[in-house]
Amino acid sequence: MSPVDTTPAPRLVELSAGDLRARLDEALAVYVEAMDYPQGTEFHRAPMWTEHTGRPGWRGVAAFAAAPDGTESMIGVAYGYRGAPHQWWQQQVREGMRRTGADRNTIETVLGDYFELTELHVSPRAQGHGIGAALLRMLLAGRTEARVLLSTPEVPDEDNRAWRLYRRLGFTDVVRHFRFTGDSRPFAVLGRPLPL
Ligand SMILES: CC(C)(COP(=O)(O)OP(=O)(O)OC[C@H]1O[C@@H](n2cnc3c(N)ncnc32)[C@H](O)[C@@H]1OP(=O)(O)O)[C@@H](O)C(=O)NCCC(=O)NCCS
Repeated sequence: MSPVDTTPAPRLVELSAGDLRARLDEALAVYVEAMDYPQGTEFHRAPMWTEHTGRPGWRGVAAFAAAPDGTESMIGVAYGYRGAPHQWWQQQVREGMRRTGADRNTIETVLGDYFELTELHVSPRAQGHGIGAALLRMLLAGRTEARVLLSTPEVPDEDNRAWRLYRRLGFTDVVRHFRFTGDSRPFAVLGRPLPL
């Protein structure tokens, strides 16, 4: 007989913009640990995450795990918002699509009505149990946009959990090996129609 897992399932909750701002340190700690970024990265990201909470169509979700003493800690976080032409990310992706030869109609179709999945992170100790997928499904449920877009770092053979998750959920290529201004790493922009 295999051992029975008695660990309580994490609690998934919708975050208001105020909730995320109030728990920003916790959320950024999940992000820094999940992305394996150097400590201190959170100080650079905090103003940006705060500004994002004010964007039209912002939505956030989080996963909390209970400790034996009853306290809860955040182990996953995801958010996004409605894409718009004045946003830096959309302008970059538009340029990336142009450079790869996409015609105007295709660009307008892809960028005309989308939800940008801006952040999705699960603490390394909690990865591999379906929490990332569950957060993403919750975040996208009931969205009115025609599609969801995201960017993720390129990795050899698409061999990491983020890539496997996105491919499993049907995300396809929008732009590959794209370099956002100010970041030397190549990124992929992926997307899929909504609903999921
Ligand atoms: C990407 C990320 C958010 C995915 O979260 P996650 O909880 O690990 O992802 P999943 O929910 O899909 O689970 C991943 C694995 O668990 C398996 N799994 C899914 N549901 C499961 C379940 N109910 N029970 C057991 N295993 C399960 C999946 O098969 C998957 O295996 P694979 O990666 O070998 O294909 C997380 O790995 C992460 O934070 N990574 C680092 C940061 C990052 O890259 N973020 C995205 C940047 S764009």
